[in-house]
Amino acid sequence: MKNLSNNFPSFPSTRLRRVRSSYFSKLITSENNLSVNDLIMPLFVTDGIGVREEIKSMPGIYRYSLDTLMGHIDDIIKMEIPAIALFPRIDSNLKDSDGSLALDPDNLICRVVKKIKSEYPDLGVICDVALDPYTDHGHDGLLVNGIVDNDKTLNVLVEQAIVQAEAGCDAVAPSDMMDGRVAAIRLALDDNGHQETQIISYAAKYASSFYGPFRDAVCSKNSNTVIDKSSYQMNPANSNEAIREISLDINEGADMVIVKPGMPYLDIIYRASSELKFPTLAYQVSGEYAMIKHAAEKNFLDLDKAIIESLLSFKRAGACGILSYFSIDAAKLIKNL
Ligand code: PBG
Repeated sequence: MKNLSNNFPSFPSTRLRRVRSSYFSKLITSENNLSVNDLIMPLFVTDGIGVREEIKSMPGIYRYSLDTLMGHIDDIIKMEIPAIALFPRIDSNLKDSDGSLALDPDNLICRVVKKIKSEYPDLGVICDVALDPYTDHGHDGLLVNGIVDNDKTLNVLVEQAIVQAEAGCDAVAPSDMMDGRVAAIRLALDDNGHQETQIISYAAKYASSFYGPFRDAVCSKNSNTVIDKSSYQMNPANSNEAIREISLDINEGADMVIVKPGMPYLDIIYRASSELKFPTLAYQVSGEYAMIKHAAEKNFLDLDKAIIESLLSFKRAGACGILSYFSIDAAKLIKNL
């Protein structure tokens, strides 16, 4: 070999492989670490007794009735995962065009929250604020002449958030993308004695095809029609707009913000955490889970490595927490179980 150092003075004194080649130095020089503390597990709940049905498009993820859910939550507690995010699957004959069941203090979500908080008061319980699991048309808000009406929807979302706070959840997470909802919800929670209920806002939520399996999981789509939410969810072409969305939610009183989906929007997570310096969560959504899981089932990639690598990308981008359907798998890997 020619003497490379004549042309490249840093060679061979700088050898980046040196540190990579031992386990101890790899650990010490690791710039980011994935911890169980970072994880939030989304859970699908359904009516009935003894139900544990697998979601076809999400192998390994199930819908639970309250009784079977409690056993699953035991595992989550054993793994020391700090929080869960709940999503209901509502029977189609209980849905209507206004999503009125969302406001019933005895609805599935409220019953589930009460039970979980009574058994596990320290587990963080996050409830989604949006009407899509409850409406027969599958939109997140109320339709007026076929269009989701922002201000009419706000009135309902506020009620939904209060009902969930009253059931005892720790945080409400508006995922509807209506303008002004964080301010409206904060005001209403405070007026009703729920100053301590957090708002974790889906501040930058894109109109994404990666939600496909979720809509299957909560049965919010009618047969094969794809619901177009692009009049309220964000245009995937935009990033400055995400910073505006997130800044508005911060000013309206959000305690944390979520960027969703995760992997296709790492640049947004990076900008939100570095420019706004605000607690930013990543949501690795159902379609991201499905892609990795299905590829692994076909032996196209190593599942365990792909889980950790994909979750680390969120930490590198600056997320302080991650909602992921892989949370339990990741916790087991982190703990070497
Ligand atoms: C709806 C909601 C969606 C998700 C969470 N809350 C879907 C949507 O907007 O249609 C998606 C989560 C996922 O895909 O994992 N309010």
